[in-house]
Amino acid sequence: GKGKSEGKSEGEGEGKGRRLRSAEWFNRTDERGLHLVYMDRYLNYGLTKEELSSNKPIIGIAQSGSDVSPCNRHHLELAKRVREGIRTAGGIALEFPTHPIQETTRRPTATLDRNLSYLTLVELLYAYPFDGVVLLTGCDKTTPACLMAAATMNIPAICLNVGPMLNGSLQGERVGSGTIIWRARDLYTAGQIDADELTDMVCSGTPSPGHCNTMGTASTMNALAEALGMALPGSAAIPAPYRERSQMAYHTGLRIVDMVREDLKPSDIMTRAAFENAIVVNTAIGGSTNAPIHLNAVAKHVGVPLDLDDWDRLGYAIPLLVNMQPAGEMLSEDYYRAGGLLAVMADLLDAGKLPHPEAVTCNGRTIGDNVRGKHTWDRRTIKPFSEPMKENAGFIHLKGTLFDSAIMKTSVISPAFRKEFLQDPADPNAFECPVAVFDGPEDYQDRVEKAAIGRRTILIMRGVGPLGYPGAAEVVNMHAPSHLLKRGVRDLPCIGDGRQSGTSGSPSILNATPEAADGGNLALVRDGDRVRVDLDKRRVDILLPENELKARRKELEAKGGYQIPPSHTPWQDIFRREVGGLSEGMVLKRAVQFQRVAQNFPAP
Ligand code: FES
Ligand code: MG
Repeated sequence: GKGKSEGKSEGEGEGKGRRLRSAEWFNRTDERGLHLVYMDRYLNYGLTKEELSSNKPIIGIAQSGSDVSPCNRHHLELAKRVREGIRTAGGIALEFPTHPIQETTRRPTATLDRNLSYLTLVELLYAYPFDGVVLLTGCDKTTPACLMAAATMNIPAICLNVGPMLNGSLQGERVGSGTIIWRARDLYTAGQIDADELTDMVCSGTPSPGHCNTMGTASTMNALAEALGMALPGSAAIPAPYRERSQMAYHTGLRIVDMVREDLKPSDIMTRAAFENAIVVNTAIGGSTNAPIHLNAVAKHVGVPLDLDDWDRLGYAIPLLVNMQPAGEMLSEDYYRAGGLLAVMADLLDAGKLPHPEAVTCNGRTIGDNVRGKHTWDRRTIKPFSEPMKENAGFIHLKGTLFDSAIMKTSVISPAFRKEFLQDPADPNAFECPVAVFDGPEDYQDRVEKAAIGRRTILIMRGVGPLGYPGAAEVVNMHAPSHLLKRGVRDLPCIGDGRQSGTSGSPSILNATPEAADGGNLALVRDGDRVRVDLDKRRVDILLPENELKARRKELEAKGGYQIPPSHTPWQDIFRREVGGLSEGMVLKRAVQFQRVAQNFPAP
C-alpha cells in the first residue's frame, strides 16, 4: 500500500479509524510503556493521556510569527483561532516555532533563510508526532519555505496567510509599504524633510499588522498557495486585521483535521495541473519575478517536473488583470473587497484560460468549483479579461551565450524604452548595445557616475547570485547615472545573476543562471563588449568570437575563478556548497533527493 499502517480500529466510521502517524509515539502500549516516554512532557503542561492516545489527529501549528518577524507577528493572535478550529473538529493542536524570516531586516538577505527554514521545518514535521500541519505563512520567503517543507514531508498540510496590512495612506493618496521609502529618502537627502517627517512618511505605508499591502512577493506567494489549492479559497487576500481573517483561521483549523481523516496530502494537491494553474494566475495578478524561483523549488520538492519554459509557454500570453501597486494603483483592501483571487480566477475560468479547473484543492473540491461565478463588482481594481491592464504580461524565458537561462517581464517596457532600444523596423524586438559591468551593488555605487554609460548601454550586475551574494541579492535593477537622468533617460536595460524586488517594475533580465560565481559566461564579459538581446528569439548573446571567450576563460581560471567574498557564518558556507541555480529554484540539491518522507519512512 502506501507504506503506512492503515488498520482500522473497532467501531469507528470510514476514514476516522485509520491508524494515525502520531500513534507511533502515543499509542504504543504494546511496547512496555514506551508511549509514556514520549508523552510525559505533554502531560506535564496539562494535556491528558486520553487526548493524546485516542486516535485524535495531532495537528502542528507552524508558527512563523515572532517579535523578530513583524510581517508574520499577527499569527500569534490568529493561531488561537486556528487552535479553536482544530479542537472543535476533534483534533489536538501543538504549536511550535519555525525559523523566522523577516524580509526587511534579515542581513545580508532573507533569501538565505528560505532553505534554512525549509530544512528545520521538514525536520520538525518528521521528528514529532504530527498527523497534519497548519502552515502560518506571510512575509516573502515564509510561504515558499512552508510549501517546500509540506512537499518534502507530504503529511496533510494547509496554509494560512497572515494577510496583508491595511492600505497605506498619505494626504489622501494610497501608499504602498516599501515603495514610499524611496520617495521619502530622496526628500530627506535633499533636506526637504527632517528625520521625524521621514519616519512619519515611511510609516504611512505600513499602517497595521500584516505583510506588504502591494502585489509584492508576499501577496504573490500567498495567492499562489491558494491557486495551487494549498490554502482555503478566498483566504489569501484578506487583510490581517479584518474579522474575516480570524474567521478564516478558525475554518483552516477545522479543515486540517478532516484533511487528516481523508488523508489528503500535498502530493494529491500540488500536481502538475495545480502548478500550471498557478503560473497562469501569477501573470493575471501581476505576480513577483521571485515567483518562478519559489514555485519551481516547491515543484522540485514534490517531484513535479516544472521549468522556465513552462512559465513562458503557459504564462507569457496571459493578460494582467489586477490593478494593484506596483503595476497599478490599488492596494490590499481594494483588492480584497473587489473579490481577490477568487474573482480573478473566475474571470480566467470564463475566458477558458485556467488550464485545469479539475485540480483538487485542500477543501476537497476542485479549483473550478471554488471560483466559478465569483466575479468582481469592482472593475477598477480587477479588470475584465477583454480589457486588461496589459496584454502578454507574463515572463519570457531567455537563453543564449551570456547565460543558459534568465527571465524578463516584457510588459513593463515603457514607450521611452521601446523608442530608444527597439526602434529598428526590420528587427523590432531586438537590440545590440555595449555593456557596463558591475561586480555587486557596492561596485555599482562606486562607479556608476564614472563608468562609460550612454543612452544605449546595457547595465550588467554580476556576483549577486545564490553563491556570489549568498542567497542572491535583489539588486539587478539599476538606475542610469545622473547625467542621463537629467536628460530624461531612466530605463536602461539591466541584466544580472541576482534578483529584483517583487515591488519593482523595471525591464530587467533577471535570475541569470549559471551565475558568474558558478562558471557562467557573465564572469567573462567586460566594459564595452557588445551584447545582443532578441526578445522574439528569446536569446541574449555576447558578441565575441569563441576563441576570445576561451582565452578569457583561461585567464579567469588562472586567477582562481570569479572571486566572491568569504562566508561569514556556517550556514552561508553550507548553503553555498549545497545550493543550485536560481532558474532551478535555488533548492538544496541533496534535499531534493528526499521525497514523500512520511510515506517512505513512516516510523522515525
Ligand atoms: Fe514582509 Fe514585505 S517585507 S511582506
Ligand atoms: Mg521583497
